[in-house]
Amino acid sequence: MSATDAAARREELVALYKEVSKCTKCPLHETRTKAVFGAGNADADLMFVGEAPGAEEDRQGLPFVGRAGQLLNELLVEIGLSREDVFICNVLKSRPPNNRDPQPTEIAACEPYLFEQVRLIEPRVVCTLGNFATKLLTGNQTGITRVRGTPQTHELGGRPVHLLPLFHPAAALRTPAVKEQLRGDFATIPALLAQALPEPMPSAAEIAAETAVEDEEPPPPADQLGFFGGPDGG
Ligand code: URA
Repeated sequence: MSATDAAARREELVALYKEVSKCTKCPLHETRTKAVFGAGNADADLMFVGEAPGAEEDRQGLPFVGRAGQLLNELLVEIGLSREDVFICNVLKSRPPNNRDPQPTEIAACEPYLFEQVRLIEPRVVCTLGNFATKLLTGNQTGITRVRGTPQTHELGGRPVHLLPLFHPAAALRTPAVKEQLRGDFATIPALLAQALPEPMPSAAEIAAETAVEDEEPPPPADQLGFFGGPDGG
């Protein structure tokens, strides 16, 4: 991707940030202090998607700045990365009161922002943190305990990406065994970043066009063309 393309995508991301900052698409805008758009490298190969801002994130307008964020920082350092290398955001851009679970209507209102962020940042690897991000981005309701640590391939933001479901760092803070599993899964990220991306999946229209061509009569062999009144076939 050229530098100009990256600059244009960054500009669009800034415009999206401004839109999210004044978003009133769901009632959470009435109780939030600041919307939390996300932060980090706008051209990152690696993106993390959490659930929703907590109290400290709501105050600062930045993602993962509380205890879960400190653990995320530690785990990044262990694989030779820092927050400046990655982009971090959430499914919801506004804090649910008392950190309750995101509601389906809130997710539906907010998800276009997340898909647009993925489209503009063009990550190679997207790590989903916890059930809400995993279920939304995989389009599958299987719980995080069953899918964590196994990479999947999905088309997100119009491009294929490696998607790695991970436990949420807040769950890791509560349970030491979960923390060790999260640490082990983090260790697989560098190899995933180095792995080639699959070819983009053909669209339904492309598949239909290909099938139509296959169904057509094959053209006659070149030596038969004379029978059909070609230029010098008589
Ligand atoms: N938990 C999240 O899911 N996101 C944050 O930004 C902070 C805590």
